[in-house]
Amino acid sequence: MFRIDRHLTTDDLDKALRSDVAEGLTAVPKRLPPKWFYDERGSALFEDITALPEYYPTRAERAILESRADAIAEAADAEALIELGSGSGVKTRLLLEAMGRHGALTRFVPVDVSGEFLASSARRVADDHPDLDVHAVVGDFEEHLGLLPLPGEGRQLLAVLGSTIGNQEPGPRAAFLRRIRAVLRPGDSLLLGADLVKDPARLIAAYDDAQGVTADFNRNVLRVINQRLGADFDPAAFEHVARWDAEAEWIEMRLRSRTDQRVRITDLDLEVDFGAGEEMRTEISAKFRRQPLTEELDAAGFDLTHWWTDPEEDFALTLASAR
Ligand code: SAH
Ligand code: TRP
Repeated sequence: MFRIDRHLTTDDLDKALRSDVAEGLTAVPKRLPPKWFYDERGSALFEDITALPEYYPTRAERAILESRADAIAEAADAEALIELGSGSGVKTRLLLEAMGRHGALTRFVPVDVSGEFLASSARRVADDHPDLDVHAVVGDFEEHLGLLPLPGEGRQLLAVLGSTIGNQEPGPRAAFLRRIRAVLRPGDSLLLGADLVKDPARLIAAYDDAQGVTADFNRNVLRVINQRLGADFDPAAFEHVARWDAEAEWIEMRLRSRTDQRVRITDLDLEVDFGAGEEMRTEISAKFRRQPLTEELDAAGFDLTHWWTDPEEDFALTLASAR
């Protein structure tokens, strides 16, 4: 069975984008929030990123899932799988199949802001699993967790894969983990994919690939603003920058203006000046270590029960139990 709830209409998205852009582009320094990368083109570009030779996280996480999916299914013993930021759901299938073998799974709730991409990937899952109740939700996981179609009883497993948890700063991340805990019941599980701190050269390469796919992905946010808010950004006039912040232990993605330029955002009646070399932040991707992440989970009401990594220890998949 396949159903889809839409909590984000084009109108909602435009409204949210308007306020984010108005705020971010008048701030000093300028910034843009990351969820706007993901229109259909952005989601397709992200899929291309996951296949890049430099972008190891997807392969590492998939390798862990290939060897641990059955252990996860057994430990979680869940009837419902909820996935936040599900994207193409390629890795999720490993989990769904293991949970199916384990026996208890009846419902899958994938949640994503990228509506059309979610609709087609969730429908494919439903086609391949005729007995599964696939109830997709187009929504913002920072806002709509309270509206998810969760079963009133039965154990749940909530997954956030792809190190999406690293795209929030520590404060908002702590609040996000607490909100996740609030939709779960004691004994429910949280499966978190977390990219680990490593050699900065490898980290930077993963976010600044030789083919320039990540650069295109980063600049896609400008195209989204052009299309939705009638802006006249010239994406080619901005250079992709990926920098390792050794203190915060995160990769910071920025767009650097190549020249002095003025951009007009018609729907906001706003003109924004960029100086040559001026950088605006578009995304962070935090990298994790075991002890601090265990403590973050603990603070949100979770006991870490499993910590699995790939052989190179590039990436961790953690399972935690709600208290
Ligand atoms: N889980 C997939 C995709 C990770 S990319 C993987 O591991 O490969 C991050 C995903 O989260 C994208 O599909 C993006 O559309 C979605 N996303 C980003 N911000 C979001 C938000 N605020 N609410 C819901 N989904 C979001
Ligand atoms: N969650 C992914 C990560 O942090 C998202 C991502 C991958 C990303 N590559 C990117 C976000 C490039 C912005 C730009 O790895």
